[in-house]
Amino acid sequence: MLLLRDFAQVASPAGRRAPLRGAELGNVDLVEDAYVLIDGDRIADVGRMRELGPLEGDVEERSFAGRCAVPGLVDCHTHPAFGGDRVEEFSLRAAGASYEELHAAGGGILSTVRATRDAGEDGLRAAVRDHAAWMRAHGTTTFEGKSGYGLDRETELASLRAVRDAGGIPTWLGAHAVPPEFDGDADAYLDFALSDVLPEAARLAEAADVFLERGAFDAAQARRYLEACRASGLALRLHGDQFTEQGAIPLAIELGARSVDHLEATGAEGVRALAQSDVVGVLLPASALFLNRPMPPARALVDAGAAIALATDFNPGSSFTESLPLVCSLAATQLKLSPAESLAAVTVNAAHVLRRADRIGRIAPGYLAHLAILDAPDWRYLAYHLGERPVALTAAELA
Ligand code: NIG
Ligand code: FE
Repeated sequence: MLLLRDFAQVASPAGRRAPLRGAELGNVDLVEDAYVLIDGDRIADVGRMRELGPLEGDVEERSFAGRCAVPGLVDCHTHPAFGGDRVEEFSLRAAGASYEELHAAGGGILSTVRATRDAGEDGLRAAVRDHAAWMRAHGTTTFEGKSGYGLDRETELASLRAVRDAGGIPTWLGAHAVPPEFDGDADAYLDFALSDVLPEAARLAEAADVFLERGAFDAAQARRYLEACRASGLALRLHGDQFTEQGAIPLAIELGARSVDHLEATGAEGVRALAQSDVVGVLLPASALFLNRPMPPARALVDAGAAIALATDFNPGSSFTESLPLVCSLAATQLKLSPAESLAAVTVNAAHVLRRADRIGRIAPGYLAHLAILDAPDWRYLAYHLGERPVALTAAELA
């Protein structure tokens, strides 16, 4: 047993249910002057130092005086499997070029497809390992990672293996863009992806994802891709309403998707429909900031009773950040979410999107000992300190 003692505060999303939605998102279980008792890889107990009774057996102790603990952060939407970078494009955008124009001119996602194919399996593995270490250095203890920059059989499968082997949860983003060899024929590309890649991708990935957008895949193509993926046992996610509303929310609800992600362009009807459904709205404010786009209607979603999560969308083109604390800061200043709402959105609700909320996303008895430690007197520094870097701690390091 290991006793982590003297925390200024231990903060965890309230209760045991997942996902938290609407007003529940604002509730935090807060223990001041606290301890966390760990048995093996699990949390055995949480409480106040002055109520700590005598402990039986061999107990090692560590003091965390002056620091706070929140659950290890969960990034439920990242694109870590890529080669190269987009620093040139970033500079062009700074000079006025738009992301959608660059994409239409064969740059954007497709320039990363070229670099990712060139990286080879070893290069890709090294890249995902590096990106996973960057995330961890910002307090992330669980991450989902998408393929989607290979778009051929070999590179898509290598991407999924690289995510899995770096400790991530792989999602097959087989419908991210139409690769150049299909010359803009999205249906022909989907014929190939579903017949040649899906059977093996379904063994490696937990979920499938599609970019439903003008210039990528339309609603009919997204439906065809998602239905085939679901028939092969994959859970479903969608990139939807990033630039335009193309029916992503009704499709996600009809198909029973786990989430629809982005939502920068979602209007009042989409907010209402999503809030009444079991689909989680995954908000990516770092991506909206990075592309200088409107922010998603987070406040309206929460006030309407929706389940939301927050994620980085880490990728080289539209959101080159691995920091969930930065996302929590943006959630406070841009989305008008309270630190408590952000905490739930990057822990229990993100874990729910990944169907792991029974094990991660809370500091409570029975959960895995995944913590993020803040060198701060108040847990809300997670959002308040722009660029906070919590220390990720799991049973492996604690042993
Ligand atoms: O989630 N929207 C589509 N896909 C990624 C961006 C990919 C890229 O620009 O490389 C996203 O923002
Ligand atoms: Fe994304």
